[in-house]
Amino acid sequence: MLEHGGRLREAADYWGIPLADWVDLSTGIAPWSYPVAISAAAWQRLPEDGDGLEAVAAAYYGHPAPLPLPGTQAAIQWLPRLLPPCRVAVLTPGYGEYAPAWRAAGHQVREIALDALAAGDADVVMMGRPNNPDGATLPSAATLALAREMNARGGWLVVDEAFGDMAPAEALAPLAGTELPRLVVLRSLGKFFGLAGARVGFLCAAPDLSARLAAMLGPWAVAHPSRMAALQALGDRAWQTHQRERLMAAALRLRALLGRYRLPARAVGGLFCHAPMAQAASLHEHMARRGILLRHFDTPEALRFGLPGDGNQWRRLDAALDTWKPT
Ligand SMILES: Cc1ncc(COP(=O)(O)O)c(C=O)c1O
Repeated sequence: MLEHGGRLREAADYWGIPLADWVDLSTGIAPWSYPVAISAAAWQRLPEDGDGLEAVAAAYYGHPAPLPLPGTQAAIQWLPRLLPPCRVAVLTPGYGEYAPAWRAAGHQVREIALDALAAGDADVVMMGRPNNPDGATLPSAATLALAREMNARGGWLVVDEAFGDMAPAEALAPLAGTELPRLVVLRSLGKFFGLAGARVGFLCAAPDLSARLAAMLGPWAVAHPSRMAALQALGDRAWQTHQRERLMAAALRLRALLGRYRLPARAVGGLFCHAPMAQAASLHEHMARRGILLRHFDTPEALRFGLPGDGNQWRRLDAALDTWKPT
């Protein structure tokens, strides 16, 4: 089992603080979720084609046929099994699920830093954009050049846009499998829409690759209530605008707060702050003892601060930082 943010029960046991007393700032999940309304029929009946989800997703992502997935995770695990064993370059530091999934499917994996990323000697390149955890983002022109080069060489570029909803103009989903046949883009409803528990993501790719993944997932891969949640969330432009504004305000406020405590941080996708620092482990422990869960990264040393969701959480974060004495 890989380490992830959001493992609050484990933290509660470990630190001996009741679950209800924690502020969980360990993830990049928006603190405000889309207010979903689920009908009784969605629980009772199997999902059917024609509920409108694919059309709403196509409009939102600007892609002709996004394939609904039970979370982006499904594509992270299945894509490596759909391609013959080859050389895969995975961006590092990066989301911890990529490399093990490619290795488990028999590929030869190299973990590569952003400045060394090139089409050169890989058949598949995979990266987050913006990248989790550090927010590194290959500029659009360089990403497109890489996609074209991978395309020309018969390779693949897989871009995970799980944190891409705050900057739609940067998104490459519209080009995936269309203008750039061998570009694959992954999208998630977990972060911006705050619906990680619904387990919904999308694959934007060429029709044949999408069809192969759909066949592996089988019928009813996304639960009916989850499809309903996604349909409502992706179609609600007014809510999305409101969400974008309040997330951006919170991300800027968080970065400013951390700055006041001499913790320079980068706001990533408007959804969390990434703070590289030598004493990350010690600050992580200091905060956990006060019931505030952050995410600690050790290579390189850094902390993730998710966005506080209300005044009480902001006050607790501020007060806990105020009592920390770096050595
Ligand atoms: C970069 C990145 N991609 C994908 C995922 C998985 O997303 P989903 O909940 O859609 O499976 C995560 C979850 O933390 C993530 O951080």
